[in-house]
Amino acid sequence: MNDQERSVIRAFQHSQPLLKRFPNRRKASKPGARNTAMPRDLNSEKSKAEITESPNRMPDSPVDLGADSSAQLGSSSGLKGFVVVPKSKQYKPNNLHPYTRPLTVSDIDAVVALENAAFSNPDERATREKIFYRLTKCNELCLGLFETIVPGQDNQPETFGSSRPVETSRSNGAISVLIGHVIAAKTTSPLVTDASMDFPQDWQADKPESSELGHQEAGRTIVLHSVAVLPEFQGRGIGRVLMMAYMQQMNGAGIADRLALIAHECMVSYYEKLAFANKGKSPCEFGGGGWFDMSFDLKTQHARATYG
Ligand SMILES: CC(C)(COP(=O)(O)OP(=O)(O)OC[C@H]1O[C@@H](n2cnc3c(N)ncnc32)[C@H](O)[C@@H]1OP(=O)(O)O)[C@@H](O)C(=O)NCCC(=O)NCCS
Repeated sequence: MNDQERSVIRAFQHSQPLLKRFPNRRKASKPGARNTAMPRDLNSEKSKAEITESPNRMPDSPVDLGADSSAQLGSSSGLKGFVVVPKSKQYKPNNLHPYTRPLTVSDIDAVVALENAAFSNPDERATREKIFYRLTKCNELCLGLFETIVPGQDNQPETFGSSRPVETSRSNGAISVLIGHVIAAKTTSPLVTDASMDFPQDWQADKPESSELGHQEAGRTIVLHSVAVLPEFQGRGIGRVLMMAYMQQMNGAGIADRLALIAHECMVSYYEKLAFANKGKSPCEFGGGGWFDMSFDLKTQHARATYG
């Protein structure tokens, strides 16, 4: 077993105790309830996973509903601006066994593809340059959630083309496909700032100027710049599992005091359910503004040492 395999197993094992903190997530026996345990068998959810609401699609974005023209904008659910991902575009394997590992700069093509697929508003996407900067400067803060997929089965997700064979070359050609990611960097501010969302243009120079832009190694706040799940996989608890795995990993790392992010109003309750606190309207103007500041306090080193 090589180092990479070991780190994948470790990351997965670390996510297990965290799931226990959300015991209600395990009650999948009730019809209509969701189970976010990982790995998990999604057989029980097959029937209700037919239509996935992708709440983050812009209402006016061009969405090809294809043959599933019965799919409509999700206004009836009261979730304005939400777009239903048509059946034909959902990825429907019976079993999902996703696993996490830190992203590296070699994952950039898949990360860019996922970013473009998940954020329908181009102003809210991180550019390739920004992603390259973050994966180079602070990839230890960036986590990917992968699924092993055999080519030729089901639909091909957007990140499929940039995926690589799984650890051992299998005869069926299975590849490891990125289906979710958290891209982050550190800042010295307690909340997200426009400067923390930016990056210094000369960062690759031999002697770059000192800058308040972008990743600050001495910062104690981890800013989550992008939390994204491929549209075909949304609405099945993958985003929650990814976030819980990330929070668990950062809680144990001792490298920061808190996580921070900015969210649109419709996403505030999503993060509150993950124990983030709503800190009110954010002055950030990134992507046109209108954000709310969210923050989650990580355990202190003392608390970790005392209570685990
Ligand atoms: C936000 C995102 C990562 C969530 O991933 P996901 O896999 O669809 O989310 P989950 O299935 O884990 O959702 C868990 C819960 O959150 C709810 N939820 C998901 N997205 C939501 C949204 N935009 N608004 C309100 N609730 C939302 C789900 O309904 C579910 O609630 P329930 O447990 O009460 O049924 C995903 O929708 C995405 O990639 N969106 C595009 C990018 C984006 O907007 N990212 C967030 C800003 S950085």
